[in-house]
Amino acid sequence: MTDTVTFDEGLIKALREAENIIFFTGAGASAESGVPTFRTGTDSLWVDFDVEDYATLDGFNRNPQKVWQWYKGRRENMAALQPNVAHHVIARWQEKAPRVTVITQNIDNFHQDAGSDLVIELHGNIHHFKCLNDHPVESSSVDNSEEPPLCEICGSLVRPDVVWFNEPLPQEAFDHAEMFSRECSVFIAVGCSMEVQPAAFLPAFAASGGAYLVQINPEASIFDKYAYTLRGKAGEVLPQLWQAVWGESFN
Ligand code: OAD
Repeated sequence: MTDTVTFDEGLIKALREAENIIFFTGAGASAESGVPTFRTGTDSLWVDFDVEDYATLDGFNRNPQKVWQWYKGRRENMAALQPNVAHHVIARWQEKAPRVTVITQNIDNFHQDAGSDLVIELHGNIHHFKCLNDHPVESSSVDNSEEPPLCEICGSLVRPDVVWFNEPLPQEAFDHAEMFSRECSVFIAVGCSMEVQPAAFLPAFAASGGAYLVQINPEASIFDKYAYTLRGKAGEVLPQLWQAVWGESFN
């Protein structure tokens, strides 16, 4: 259980006055929903599974069936889970500030499920599909397939529309993320290890525009020396932050 967090008065004021806020989320934002993170804790994905096998195009080409099944299992797990209070606080923040942008590295769709309107997905979405030649594929036609189907347009294999290692981020998403980061006045990273580029460049863009950098994380991260750190779990810190900024309990 995270202790009661004390908030800097400057942060409270900045948040009350902010016209343009970014919540930048990583796996830690969904941890309390039951989604495993990648690098921390004993059940982290990249502790138990080899990135080369499950999160690269080479891995998919070597064994499409294995990778397809792994994502199918993750998709089914996520479908049984729900957004947690952290997602809900972030979604409600748009009632309070003129512009709230969520930039997420998560692929679980929980921000949209919680009601956030402006969500930029940097690493794709596990519920979406495309073929190896980038033709979009309707989810309902392949979602339950036990093996990677073939694209109806070009006949190549269908894969999850997520970003794998060594692949570029979706250009438009990253361009928008950079633009919004440069313009924001408060940039709050929630549950991010900041170990994966280019997503982890975004705080630098925000800092170059003079933004207040904040992070919420129960563990130390390489972002500690750049950001005002709220040490605790997202689902516990964010409702406290809401209360401190808006003077009302979050429910
Ligand atoms: P990581 O697993 O690298 O880091 C998760 C962070 O969340 C860590 O710093 C934890 O301390 C923190 N954390 C854990 N529980 C938390 C909680 N309840 N509240 C707040 N924070 C908590 O995940 P990401 O930073 O998201 O990319 O990883 C970035 C990318 O690496 C992922 O999008 C994925 C992965 O490989 C791809 O697959 C392309």
